[in-house]
Amino acid sequence: MKPRILLTAAIPEPGMELLYDAGEVTLLPEVPDTAALTALCASGDFDVLLSRLGDTVDADLLAAAKVRGVSNYAVGFNNIDVEAATKHGILVGNTPGVLTDATADVAMLLILGTARRVVEADTLVRSGQFSGWNPELLMGADVSGQVLGLAGFGRIGRATARRALAFGMDVVFSPRPPQERIVSADELGEFAGKVRQLPWDEVVAQADFLSIHVPLNGQTRHLVDAAVLKAMKPSAFLVNTSRGPVVDEAALVTALREGVIAGAGLDVYENEPELASGLTELPNTVLLPHIGSATVPVRGKMAVLAARNAIAIGKGEMPEFAVNPEAFRGAQ
Ligand code: GLV
Ligand code: GLV
Repeated sequence: MKPRILLTAAIPEPGMELLYDAGEVTLLPEVPDTAALTALCASGDFDVLLSRLGDTVDADLLAAAKVRGVSNYAVGFNNIDVEAATKHGILVGNTPGVLTDATADVAMLLILGTARRVVEADTLVRSGQFSGWNPELLMGADVSGQVLGLAGFGRIGRATARRALAFGMDVVFSPRPPQERIVSADELGEFAGKVRQLPWDEVVAQADFLSIHVPLNGQTRHLVDAAVLKAMKPSAFLVNTSRGPVVDEAALVTALREGVIAGAGLDVYENEPELASGLTELPNTVLLPHIGSATVPVRGKMAVLAARNAIAIGKGEMPEFAVNPEAFRGAQ
């Protein structure tokens, strides 16, 4: 029997081709709301759901679901209640590894873009106001010799550190804020002697650029709140390529408006696709539409991983990348 695969929207090639070759594919004509998705997953007509970040896979959906698993087209999986999935023996797949460098590139882009006021500069040229080289035109901040503070030191945090070191930055990190955990020299590997671990509050206080690389969960929601923003240097910039709710966005708007920090570069937002009121009016921001992994090759690789995970789950096999392998119950 071919696995019956439900998609709420198409994924890039070669993902669709893999799915059509191996399975019986149902591609919905429009993205369903949570109630409609719950009904579809409960119908018994599908073995696996291939979901995207916009699909909310909550505890109610999972309690009613008759699917073996959910293959998420993303590395992050905060749209899925993994604990509930595990409880019901529903596997959750994700796409780790392939988007590490692309996302770190966007973190570096936001560091450079906020420092050098790229949006203001581009706007000035486009509006016809560029009147020639001027010694004081759009002076920004340096990155070399400045301190990059990393919240999180996983794959993407490390890839960002690698880039920042090449730009002559000093890199400090806290591996799992707000909790502390000592990272051994062994674990540091290539970074031993090149980056320094500090307590989270020290990372915040010392950073000229604070870049967020933690997953969203109960501990990290609003990790960067009004108090943390206040503890940053007034000359510092905040960069977020992880998940919006890690930052209290309303508090960030206030901090930017009042000069509590110098600027922010964001690829993710607390209530995507909505933005906190006032954010777009602030000149000291660079605002991207959640494109961390958006290169043609990377989105293709994510599609392959998501398709393979979906096919394996649908067949009752353990997928290559499961975030809750303990939910595996084998073919039934
Ligand atoms: C994108 O944000 C992802 O988690 O893959
Ligand atoms: C995420 O941390 C990744 O490297 O995929």
